[in-house]
Amino acid sequence: MKFFVDTADLKEIKELAATGLLDGVTTNPSLVAKSGHANFVELIKEIAAIVPGPVSAEVAATEYEPMLEEAKFLAKLAKNIAVKVPLTPAGLKVCRQLADQGAMVNVTLCFSAAQAILAAKAGAAFVSPFVGRLDDIGARGMDLISEICQIYANYPQFETQVLVASVRSPQHVVQAALVGAHVATIPPKVIRQLFDHPLTDKGLAQFIADWQKSGQKILG
Ligand code: E4P
Repeated sequence: MKFFVDTADLKEIKELAATGLLDGVTTNPSLVAKSGHANFVELIKEIAAIVPGPVSAEVAATEYEPMLEEAKFLAKLAKNIAVKVPLTPAGLKVCRQLADQGAMVNVTLCFSAAQAILAAKAGAAFVSPFVGRLDDIGARGMDLISEICQIYANYPQFETQVLVASVRSPQHVVQAALVGAHVATIPPKVIRQLFDHPLTDKGLAQFIADWQKSGQKILG
C-alpha cells in the first residue's frame, strides 16, 4: 500500500519525506489556502521537487475548455504531477484527454461506485473516494472503498488505482489496507498516529531502564 500525505504544508512534507515512508502528496484548493503560500504554481513545483512520487495538483476551473487549459499547464510543471480534476462530466472529459496524452490524472470528489467506474473508463491514474466525508453524513465510507476495489478487480483492463481520501484516523488506513486499496492519502497528524501504541512506549521505557541498570554500552 502506498502512503501519500494529504497536505500542502512544505515543512510537514519535508519532515515526512525524510522518513522514507512517503510515496506521494495530494493537495486540494482548501489545503493550498490553509498553507498560506501565496503562489500555487511555485508551491506545487517545490513539492514535486521534494517528493519523487505523484503530486496531485487540482484544477480550479469547472467548465471543460478552461479546465483543459489549466490541466495541461499543471501537467507540465513537473514529471510527477497528477492533475486533479473533479468527478463531473467536464472533469472526466479532461481526464480522458490528458490520459490519452500520457499524463497522470487523479479524479477527486468520488462518493459512489458508479462514479468510480466512470473514472476508470476515463483513464484516471487514481480515483479519490472520500471516506471521512461519507462517514460524516452517516454513510459507511469504507464500504465504498471495498466496493470499488472489488469492481476494479473484476476488470483487469482498469488500471486506475484506488486512492483512499478524507482519511481521519489510523483505523481508516488499516481498513483501507484490509480491503486492498492501492493508496491512502493521509493527513500528517494521522501519519504520526500510525506509530503510536501505549505498549510500545511502555516496553521501550522498560528496556531503557534495564539497559541503564546493566551498565553496558553498545559503542565504546
Ligand atoms: C484528498 O485528495 C482530498 O482532497 C482530501 O483527502 C479531503 O479530505 P477532507 O475531507 O478531510 O477535507
